[in-house]
Amino acid sequence: MRVLGIETSCDETAVAIVEAPAGNGPVGRILANVVYSQLTEHRRFGGVVPEIAARAHLERLDGLVMDALAEAGLGLADLDGIAATGGPGLIGGVLVGVMTAKALAFAHDKPFLAINHLEGHALSVRLTEDVAFPYLLLLASGGHCQLLTVRGPGDFTRLGTTIDDAAGECFDKTAKLLGLGFPGGPAVERAAVGGDPQRFALPRPMWRKPGCDFSFSGLKTAVRQTIEKLPPDDPGAIADLCASFQRTVGDVLADRCANALALAPSPTLVVAGGVAANVYLRGRLETLAASHGARLVAPPIKLCTDNGAMIAWAGIERLRLGLTDALDFRPRPRWPLDPALDPAAAGMAVRV
Ligand code: KG4
Ligand code: ZN
Repeated sequence: MRVLGIETSCDETAVAIVEAPAGNGPVGRILANVVYSQLTEHRRFGGVVPEIAARAHLERLDGLVMDALAEAGLGLADLDGIAATGGPGLIGGVLVGVMTAKALAFAHDKPFLAINHLEGHALSVRLTEDVAFPYLLLLASGGHCQLLTVRGPGDFTRLGTTIDDAAGECFDKTAKLLGLGFPGGPAVERAAVGGDPQRFALPRPMWRKPGCDFSFSGLKTAVRQTIEKLPPDDPGAIADLCASFQRTVGDVLADRCANALALAPSPTLVVAGGVAANVYLRGRLETLAASHGARLVAPPIKLCTDNGAMIAWAGIERLRLGLTDALDFRPRPRWPLDPALDPAAAGMAVRV
């Protein structure tokens, strides 16, 4: 079984083709994986501009589909399904991906799969690692920070979420305030190298509180106030601040994961989403998991940030279960993973 996956929910236009292993288990084979990062389009604005993103997806997507097919040495007839991110995300971009996937599926008589972007991240670990359901998941990206139990495609229980900002957003804001560029996460990680992680005592919102919720807005404010007071004649201050910031985020994530492991014990803790690309944070979570008798598993770094392979893989997981979508699927700007939190699943009106 081979599925083509399209990802257009933010600022990466990405297409991949993934081949499933025999049976229903993990570890697929990536036959093609192409990503166009819209960095130059958005850099001068210091963040993603939704309308510019949508237009850039529209301009690039057809070409990237052709590139992916060429890389895999396949034609559309060789595919078993076409998957695209159906939400949540910037709706203009999601529309471009969904319409393209529907057109390909219709024209070539293939099943169409609308993938929840968060499910793409949540299942991505099984594309490369031998991980069985259920597992505990920390999903930390630019728009989300959640802890979930993952039992299978479409089968999630949310244990906690952020009450304000996402972890990745906090990295992006810190980088912007320090003039380190965009996207912020990798820039802060690079700037932290050699810095003193103990120099600045920053607040750790929710730390040692019961439950699994997160909060990052107080940390963001504290970073801004610290930057305003940085001594101008201290060349090491930025590295120290980035290292201290990263350590603080590590403290909070580890503390929340410890509560989750206590509430919903699991032999496997998975971390996914763009923030999971951070090597320091992966190390912190690895130590934490080991101290609870669990193992940390993370996707390879380049599959942590948005990509088409995770959408193709989620497509495979769903196609195997017959969970295909009709061509009247409506793209969704909001789409919680936990069905208990989903107004559509509860039969209530959905804003699109
Ligand atoms: O999953 P993703 O690519 O897009 C969303 O679904 O949001 O995550 C992007 C986020 C950005 O906030 C980015 O700054 C952050 O992930 N990120 C990182 C690193 N690489 C990306 N944060 C910390 N350290 C990194 N190395
Ligand atoms: Zn993402």
